[in-house]
Amino acid sequence: MKEIIRDLAQKKNAIILAHNYQPPEIQEVADLCGDSLELSIKAAKTTADIIVFCGVHFMAETASILCPDKTVLLPNPEAGCPMADMVTPEALTARKKALGNIPVITYVNSSAAVKAVSDICCTSANVIDVVNAQSADEVLMTPDRNLAQYAAGQTDKKIHLWDGFCPFHNNLTPEDVAAARQAHPKAIFMAHPECPPEVLALADTIQSTSGMIRYAKNSTHRQFIIGTEVGLLYPISKANPDKQFFPASEKMLCKDMKKIRLEDIKNSLETLSGEIRVPEHIRKNALGAVQKMIDLA
Ligand code: 13P
Ligand code: SF4
Repeated sequence: MKEIIRDLAQKKNAIILAHNYQPPEIQEVADLCGDSLELSIKAAKTTADIIVFCGVHFMAETASILCPDKTVLLPNPEAGCPMADMVTPEALTARKKALGNIPVITYVNSSAAVKAVSDICCTSANVIDVVNAQSADEVLMTPDRNLAQYAAGQTDKKIHLWDGFCPFHNNLTPEDVAAARQAHPKAIFMAHPECPPEVLALADTIQSTSGMIRYAKNSTHRQFIIGTEVGLLYPISKANPDKQFFPASEKMLCKDMKKIRLEDIKNSLETLSGEIRVPEHIRKNALGAVQKMIDLA
């Protein structure tokens, strides 16, 4: 199946991008794997005609925002993000107005329509830089309240929160961390900023998914507890074969990130099914917010 997919990709001048949480067989067939920021930048630069995005809906939308002339395929269009669904453009516009039109920083885990009414986007990898780049003293961050609270602790800006969260990261508890630390007393605990503040307070380091892979590479430690979606265990172990990685909790499994199968990629490439295209009036405004973020990188 992998050979068939690689052949099809070559014939159709397609690039296959996979998020770090995707199942091993999907990451193996991909041209490039990475975190949300890396994949957006790669999508913006590709010369391929077709982008096959193995991730969730908002990621394929971001690729479509950046590359309107390319065909962007999400091999299983059912793959969504519950956090992205926790904010709508209408509710965001109303809140922005109520706060006196302060700048809105929107996490890339959001719909194109929400990005279109935002001033700038951010990811877990660049959130502090994005907040500090604002000239205003107050900003509204959406949709992840945990990411926003983490950023608030790292800057002098007043950050207004939106009450969204990732159901899997938000479920990690201090008790889970204590149990993992007890089982692996020598391990470093790395947490993703989507985790709740009481968990981030226990972390040795707070990183995006690719940030965790780099941190482990550069560290002299040999054991790590991973406080993010369990899919990261595959690429982080592969990149660090001499080190050991343990999940902070087996509960951290995002079902949407596991919806794409190899067969879906093959079908999608063969028939160009699962195309994601953002309507032009939304795309133009969303591009402003995404491009401002990329320009800061
Ligand atoms: P990263 O941007 O750190 O890869 O995390 C994104 C995430 O949670 C995707 O759902
Ligand atoms: Fe969304 Fe959380 Fe799944 Fe990431 S892990 S796609 S934030 S639900």
